[in-house]
Amino acid sequence: MLVIIKKDYEKLSKEAAKLVADRLKKKPNLVLGLATGSTPLGLYKELSRMHKYEGLDFSKVTTFNLDEYVGIPPSHDQSYHYFMQQNFFKNVNLDPRYIHVPQGMAKDVDQFCNWYEDRIKSFGGIDLQILGIGSNGHIAFNEPGSSLGSRTRIKTLTPATRKDNKRFFKKNEEVPKYAITMGVGTIMDAKELLLVASGKGKAEAIHQSVEGPLTAMCPASIIQMHKEAFVIVDKDAASKLQGTYVDSWEPITIK
Ligand code: F6R
Repeated sequence: MLVIIKKDYEKLSKEAAKLVADRLKKKPNLVLGLATGSTPLGLYKELSRMHKYEGLDFSKVTTFNLDEYVGIPPSHDQSYHYFMQQNFFKNVNLDPRYIHVPQGMAKDVDQFCNWYEDRIKSFGGIDLQILGIGSNGHIAFNEPGSSLGSRTRIKTLTPATRKDNKRFFKKNEEVPKYAITMGVGTIMDAKELLLVASGKGKAEAIHQSVEGPLTAMCPASIIQMHKEAFVIVDKDAASKLQGTYVDSWEPITIK
């Protein structure tokens, strides 16, 4: 695992985008795993800029999103489909046939989850998975206590998550109770991981994930076991780290 500390959110977003762009230039048909949430917004903005002004080409890229709420349609402004469309998909030249976001309206959710796993495999697996992290150490909707070997499945949202989400919905009944999420095992199968975190609210989760014990109570701690994991954080998110870390993912050249 390589931990990279940048001065602020803008610099961390640019560093993360540089890594994605590097992998994309090396493999134009990259299979890219995507996350929603506020943290990757700067990364998506920078990738969108690189597409517009530097010709970064997504035409052969396949994407798989980590998660989606069950029971709200893609057109709903709180769906992860909608989020991705507004913040990334509409800005770049992805082929819609190769965009995958879990189907929250699937009639048979279990069947869909199996299909999603098979679909990822049929593209040769995810090359690079982008991840955010919850302040409790969750990754995707794998909350503390999730099995570290789990695969794509339906999860019940915790009361705390439902309470947090209430502000985004008009009526209480509208707040989703379930989500489809890639499992921790699904995430770990990606060839490379890129976890981004910003702000003091993430400092304890980053400390526990990077330097704490490997435990299902902090699902992100599993990334210590990944051979090619990059954790890019800003100074605030790094404020509880005790080790010494670098400021770039690019290999050090000794002159
Ligand atoms: C979203 C996801 C979540 C977020 C996490 C952090 O697809 O997988 O695990 O990454 O909740 O969210 P932000 O970035 O909003 O703090």
